[in-house]
Amino acid sequence: MQQSLYEFGMVGLGVMGRNFLLNVADRGYSVIGMDRDADKAQALEQEAGTSRAKGTTSPEEFVSLLQKPRAIMLLVPAGPIVDAVIKDLLPLLEADDLIIDGGNSHFADTDRRLREVGEKGIRFLGVGVSGGAEGARRGPSIMPGGSRSAYEVVAPILEKVAAKVGDDPCVDFMGRGSAGHYVKMVHNGNEYGLMQLIAEAYDLLRRVGGLSNPQLADCFAQWNQGPLQSFLVEITAEIFRQKDEFGEGQLIDQILDKAKQKGTGKWTSQNAMDHGIPVPTIDAAVTMRELSALKAQRQAVAPNLSVNSSVAAPEHFTERVHDALLFATIISYAQGLHLLQEASEEHQYELQLEAIARIWRGGCIIRAALLEDIRKAYDAQADLKNLLASPVFAPSQLQMQAATRQVVKTAIDAGLPCLALSSALSYFDAFRQERLPLNLTQAQRDHFGSHTYERVDRGGIFHTNWGH
Ligand code: 6PG
Repeated sequence: MQQSLYEFGMVGLGVMGRNFLLNVADRGYSVIGMDRDADKAQALEQEAGTSRAKGTTSPEEFVSLLQKPRAIMLLVPAGPIVDAVIKDLLPLLEADDLIIDGGNSHFADTDRRLREVGEKGIRFLGVGVSGGAEGARRGPSIMPGGSRSAYEVVAPILEKVAAKVGDDPCVDFMGRGSAGHYVKMVHNGNEYGLMQLIAEAYDLLRRVGGLSNPQLADCFAQWNQGPLQSFLVEITAEIFRQKDEFGEGQLIDQILDKAKQKGTGKWTSQNAMDHGIPVPTIDAAVTMRELSALKAQRQAVAPNLSVNSSVAAPEHFTERVHDALLFATIISYAQGLHLLQEASEEHQYELQLEAIARIWRGGCIIRAALLEDIRKAYDAQADLKNLLASPVFAPSQLQMQAATRQVVKTAIDAGLPCLALSSALSYFDAFRQERLPLNLTQAQRDHFGSHTYERVDRGGIFHTNWGH
């Protein structure tokens, strides 16, 4: 009897759920998937080939055919659907069964679900999964959070399905409670930051440097051989080569410049504000997606606000843009990781930054060669607050800041927006100042609202009767 039961279950057989489950099946596990859409349930069986995989539309059948304690992953859209699925499943489950939410759930929802599901004696993990459809099928980066004992139930499976860097699987227990979804949220915040930085580099290379699409493709392909080597740079090269099936030239020129977003970047910015940790490059990326969406308003004002700002590309412009992109990429990671370090203390996640950098080296959207250096920085100093304070990064950042300044100046002279690049540079400039002009802010606050201030030359709290 036990032999005919399945070892791993999936609810939600859209492309992510189906691909993840097929990946599990490829590793030799018997799997069962449930989706209310019969076509999707059937597609799973068809694509599984010789692997032992069953699709069903019935929650009752699904639960009854799983080995106990049951391991059930959900890959459904974040939000109320996750709660609806859990509500359907709970009456059918038994003590020690495990629900794994693999979607991009907000970490606060995960904390609530951990409590609610836990009260029923059912175990729960909030797991970030990154890598898109292809990653789910061939090897994603997996960020599990909850209780370590619940993680250990499925660790052997997740280690097999995760991407590998050498022999290291890109999965590790992230920490308590909603740690997994929190880490995934910040992963996505970084994803926004890096994508916006690449977009600004593209704009400069094209509009100031005069590079054509094939030249841009070659440029990004070459960058992908060096320290910028990363999934996002790699696919950018490929994108510039893609021909337009409806006409001449490349597809990129026909794509509407309005970026959509599902919210994880915004959550990162919002939560960073709550923690008082500055992430201006990620904020800039969210802002630029919002500005991009205001297409009609931009079109309306464009003729009246046009400025004559053509500039010649400075010497070695492409190399300088390369350095500026690398400089700002490191700053974006520094901001996101700083947030993780701080949030870990406040949420008591007990995050290990070294482990996070390690599992981000493969499978996920922000995978990059740079993450090995980041991993080393945290390996050397587990409590490192900010990469800018690390000897692994400080010297190279100092070296690349000059190129970044020139690139930002060029963008400003050319009238091109560079919110992410310039925010990264300003963040660097602010972070390295011993003294910022916010003494004036304090004076103003005390002047108009008696909010008091501290002094640099003596202790205590002061208030001045200004103007008298
Ligand atoms: C990943 C991606 C994935 C999703 C993004 C897209 O890590 O695999 O981050 O989760 O593609 O969330 O986000 P936006 O729609 O907000 O750009």
